Amino acid sequence: MVREMIVVHGNHHLEGEVRVSGAKNSALKLMAASLLGQGCTTLRNVPLISDISLMTSVLERLGARVTRDGHSMTIDTAPVNAFETPYELVSKMRASISVLGPLIGRFGEALVAMPGGCQIGARKIDMHLLGLESLGVHFAVEHGILHATTPEGLHGAHVTLDFPSVGATENLLMASVVAEGTTVIENAAREPEIEDLASMLNEMGAKVSGAGSSIIEIQGVPLESLHPCDHATVGDRIEAGTFLVGGALTGGPLTVTGINPAFLHMALMKLQAMGCSLECGDDWIRVSREEPLCPTDIQTLPHPGFPTDLQAQFMLLAACAEGTSIITENVFENRFMFAAELVRMGADIQIEDHHAIVRGVPELQGAPVSSTDLRAGGALVLAGIVAEGETKIYGVEHIDRGYEDYVGKLRSLGADIRRCPADDSDGRA
Ligand code: UD1
Repeated sequence: MVREMIVVHGNHHLEGEVRVSGAKNSALKLMAASLLGQGCTTLRNVPLISDISLMTSVLERLGARVTRDGHSMTIDTAPVNAFETPYELVSKMRASISVLGPLIGRFGEALVAMPGGCQIGARKIDMHLLGLESLGVHFAVEHGILHATTPEGLHGAHVTLDFPSVGATENLLMASVVAEGTTVIENAAREPEIEDLASMLNEMGAKVSGAGSSIIEIQGVPLESLHPCDHATVGDRIEAGTFLVGGALTGGPLTVTGINPAFLHMALMKLQAMGCSLECGDDWIRVSREEPLCPTDIQTLPHPGFPTDLQAQFMLLAACAEGTSIITENVFENRFMFAAELVRMGADIQIEDHHAIVRGVPELQGAPVSSTDLRAGGALVLAGIVAEGETKIYGVEHIDRGYEDYVGKLRSLGADIRRCPADDSDGRA
């Protein structure tokens, strides 16, 4: 496959309306959950991104038949006859481990390759394993493969997570819906994507209450009573936040639709603190700005705190503000690699442990830069749109993992942007 880059000509204004796709972080887990209902599940509002293609491969490897029609996907899980997810898939996408919970629920057994480290930190799975052990799961690691068994079946338990991990909450949820008795997850993650997953599980016949709060209660039901369903994925709050940052950077007015503003409460407060005006409806948000950007301090926290997945985008805003902002990353280690790329475009950023001291500069300059991860890639493209001159963004495959037609959507908002085969300036071609 030809490697591509994105070329942006700067000093452009973003204005107009854009519709966000379904949430990547929801759709991936909804696809995994479909394993629990034998038959044809239909998922709607599924984004056209490469992580979804990878999850499709994971399900197909297990024996499922997956068909797509635009943003709708049908997953026939009746033929699923295997419970192994190999390293070649888990190493490409860590979210593959979200099949662990449903496979245990369906087969009482699962083989899933241990995920390695990744670019934004060590990303352990100890909380997934401890929680599942409380439900009666035994784990052994054999040649890098995690082997889960349930010799005495799954039983309900009271689990308190050390940290409200999104992935651990989801795996526990998907296994406990078929455990015997009641499970309580305390200090559960409260992300909107968890609520979306719980809604789908309930549509399938599960009994989950409290999702979206830090205590989730699950009354186990027999596996046979779960059935396929038809479910629409919630809108992508991170994609929405990314476009709103684009509007805030260039002045807007820019409207994102397909998103519940409540999902972005903290990010919207920060946009206002930075001098932006906002208007909201039931499923849309409009941003505009006339005055210079003000600095602000941000610390990432689990939902409803400020999302780590919007940290890079807001660091870019801070880099263009009049004054000094401090950004603190509390969720992932090593999530400041983006700063070095932004500094290459003229930003003034100093990293001290998990704090970034960002001194605003009057102008960014176009430069060749590399996406270090998905959200950093999204932010670098926005940086190119406001910078002076031309920016080439390499590592487009990171952006394709989670932003559907990012270039097309930005062009429709007024960006001078195109994709083309990568030249060899990044030394990797
Ligand atoms: C999910 C999202 C990701 C988002 C993150 C936090 C998906 C596919 N990805 O990732 O985009 O940035 O939530 O909102 O939904 N941890 C442990 N042990 C564990 C589990 C987690 O130490 O067993 C640590 C991680 O290393 C990390 C922190 O807890 O430092 C948060 O991780 P978690 O909430 O689990 O994030 P993910 O589910 O991996």
